[in-house]
Amino acid sequence: MTEVLPAETREADPAAVWWRQAVVYQIYPRSFADANGDGLGDLPGILTRVDYLAELGVDAVWLSPFYPSALADGGYDVADYRDVDPRLGTLDDFDAMVAALHARGIKVVVDIVPNHTSDLHEWFQEALAAGRGSAARERYIFREGTGPDGAEPPTDWLSVFGGPAWHRVEDGQWYFHNFAKEQPDLNWDNPEVRQDFLTTLRFWSDRGVDGFRIDVAHMLTKDLTEPLPSREELTRIPIDGNHPLIDRDDVHEIYAEWRQLFNSYDPPRTAVAEAWVASDRVPRYASPESLGQSFNFDLLEADFDAPSFRRIVTDNLALAAQSGSSSTWVLSNHDVVRHATRYGLPPAPADSTAPARHGGEWLLGGGDEALLDRERGARRARAATLFLLGLPGSAYLYQGEELGLHEVADIPEEERQDPTFFRTGGAEIGRDGCRVPLPWTASGPSFGFGPEGAHLPQPGWFAQYAVESQEADAASTLSLYRRALGLRHDLQSGEQLDWIETGRDDVLRFRRPNGWQVVTNFGTEPYELGPSELASGDGEVVLSSDGGTAGSVPAETTIWIAPAR
Ligand code: GLC
Repeated sequence: MTEVLPAETREADPAAVWWRQAVVYQIYPRSFADANGDGLGDLPGILTRVDYLAELGVDAVWLSPFYPSALADGGYDVADYRDVDPRLGTLDDFDAMVAALHARGIKVVVDIVPNHTSDLHEWFQEALAAGRGSAARERYIFREGTGPDGAEPPTDWLSVFGGPAWHRVEDGQWYFHNFAKEQPDLNWDNPEVRQDFLTTLRFWSDRGVDGFRIDVAHMLTKDLTEPLPSREELTRIPIDGNHPLIDRDDVHEIYAEWRQLFNSYDPPRTAVAEAWVASDRVPRYASPESLGQSFNFDLLEADFDAPSFRRIVTDNLALAAQSGSSSTWVLSNHDVVRHATRYGLPPAPADSTAPARHGGEWLLGGGDEALLDRERGARRARAATLFLLGLPGSAYLYQGEELGLHEVADIPEEERQDPTFFRTGGAEIGRDGCRVPLPWTASGPSFGFGPEGAHLPQPGWFAQYAVESQEADAASTLSLYRRALGLRHDLQSGEQLDWIETGRDDVLRFRRPNGWQVVTNFGTEPYELGPSELASGDGEVVLSSDGGTAGSVPAETTIWIAPAR
């Protein structure tokens, strides 16, 4: 058995370690529920759905940014870190929402975006007005251009969203932006920047927030000593802690300071890093001296495949043991194609360079509906989710996955919002398809999302996925999630598992320390449990992602076996 939990943590105050095996439900606020009818979801909308979240059985919610923003990147362009976007509510609405969630035992995690601000942030506006050499420009990354009159950018680097990573301002200087040009990168060598984020973390912690999700946590610090390398040279520099832009060791000096702040609260505030780094570097972010937990995106990037899932689980439990943190498991979020859709697509061609998490070739081809097997994708998604929920560690769910929702591919160009669509000239259709407002009712304007329309168009097929339709159906995906989250409290015990060999390379089976078992059949032939296993009183099948009989696990299905009492 992999021993994961260090003794000192095991004995810690339960109030301080709630996050270790928590189910965290991600809310993308603009697309969750709209109370005021402006087409954008809002905080009062979330307040009206607190009962829904409680019935679903989640332990915490993580809210994507709800701060004032021009929405150049869906709110990840923050204009003021210590306020609520007026279209989404007020600070009083925030307090009311937190109080209602806490009253139902649900913790609240908010998103912090420290790599960049919005270009509308007062600091950036000040920097533009103050001109070259000013202290205001020092909070960002301004440089002179190259070539005649400095008309060429300082380097040929590309932004993550496509297009150049430098933008020229009126007086001729250039500023650096890893993402959209409306998201200028902050200069983390600047003490004022460091101080201000401590103020922000205190601001939300004092308002009762339980934890933080740290956006692109691996990119804050940079070494921009000149001469700067070219794009080509950059690709040859190893990402080993000293790369000029990515996953630098010195970023943890920032998090060590944040950790002191988190630990000054009772219970300590938690944090989870969004760090797209090599697996062996994840423990740095997840260590108790740093952020304490880090997303592991390995399952999200994998195909629906037993050997890959097994390897990923084994590796990540070992990594968690190394850092003293717990593992995190994710299949969907607001940046990737929903997993029901990913699993319903034909395998990508062997020579494909399109990332699987983006739905590979499918999205590049405009999301051709004819290639998608909706039923199969949904069945595999339920099986993968029950597998994930049976694992030790914390599970991050993305709004709408509990409805088995598919990606919306056919959004007209003029209604698209994601900067990746615009910055790649439409070559990537972007992430809007997983951000379409949720269907709550089978009819009515915006399927019950709000009293009026929705800010991204909802397709007609949303009706059959509506919460209302699924609540009435014991065999629905929503009913399955509710039952699974209820049973999970009994299933979760020590942060370990033992693999049970199945004799099949497309079937995974494991046992938790308290005797619960999870069996996932990734293949197309049923897996026979064997007559003795259940009859001997070893346990009873308490949950199945897709029906089946007591003695066998159907194709692409997960079952949970509870120990005999
Ligand atoms: C993170 C967010 C993504 C955003 C980017 C820039 O990856 O999850 O939505 O676009 O950071 O802030």
